Amino acid sequence: MKRIAVFTSGGDAPGMNACIRAVVRTAVYHGIEVYGIMRGYSGMVKGEFVKLDSASVSNTIQKGGTILKSARSQSFQTREGRQLAFDQLVNHGIDGLVAIGGNGTFTGATLFEQEFGIPIVGAPGTIDNDLYGTDYTIGYDTAVNTALEAIDKIRDTADSHDRCFFVEVMGRDSGYIAIPCAIGGGAEIVLIPETQLSTEAVIETLKNGHNRSKTSFLVVIAEGDEEGYAHEVARQVKAAIPQLDTRVTVIGHIQRGGAPSAADRMLASQIGIAAVEGLMNGMHNVMAGIVDRKLVYTPFADTIHKRKLINQSFMRMVEILNA
Ligand code: F6P
Repeated sequence: MKRIAVFTSGGDAPGMNACIRAVVRTAVYHGIEVYGIMRGYSGMVKGEFVKLDSASVSNTIQKGGTILKSARSQSFQTREGRQLAFDQLVNHGIDGLVAIGGNGTFTGATLFEQEFGIPIVGAPGTIDNDLYGTDYTIGYDTAVNTALEAIDKIRDTADSHDRCFFVEVMGRDSGYIAIPCAIGGGAEIVLIPETQLSTEAVIETLKNGHNRSKTSFLVVIAEGDEEGYAHEVARQVKAAIPQLDTRVTVIGHIQRGGAPSAADRMLASQIGIAAVEGLMNGMHNVMAGIVDRKLVYTPFADTIHKRKLINQSFMRMVEILNA
């Protein structure tokens, strides 16, 4: 392997830069040339390639976002677009790719590899932590801490005004961000897509708390598929318990930014090294991840189609800690 390229795709995540840095430095360490592709698949199609060296990634490990930028490409979803992307790789003499991203990124990578045979190793970069094949994804730890910091502040004002806050956190169709936010934030209730908890159960729990003279409440809600879900739950609760003063806060994209935590920098660096060394050892169509503290390579097909299950004991923890 003489020359590889790295790109970030899909939603950005804190620690992506630390991963890019590790990919570049590992390539340099092994005498491999490395290019960065700007704006993910979109830049691959358009030929937005930049040569990277050790200095290109200096002073980036602590930075949020991605220096290579990210985009969702329509063109790469067509066969013609992928052909253009492949032609660009051939023109630049690229022998292998490191794709940093989530499910959508690996779906594109699988198709691309099947059609054109270019070896690709993935690095799990998403705040959602919804990828099978790694205990944690790059950016997840930081996003949880960002959300928790916001929740702590919300609790202050909830307490001052005796209010019930419904706080929506990100996570697409998974509750991985919501669970530690609820446990760490001292929430009365957590609602996640993996476990259907009825609005009646939410109302019941809040009524019980109210009867025990609790004056402020926190309900953490994973965004899930249904837009405006937190507002709908709040509306139903208010209708059932009119004396409750309710507010909804959607934490939003603040969860995607900021300096990566120590854990994310460490994970991103480990995985960046593993991705390049995996390519050098003939790995392809796989994602590098850490499971039970061990490095593993999981086929893209499994990372896309297998579901990483949430430990149900976490739901019980929320209930016990609210006693
Ligand atoms: O996948 C990361 C994520 O932040 C999800 O948690 C969220 O549902 C989505 O991306 C938001 O996407 P966009 O930035 O395109 O609004």
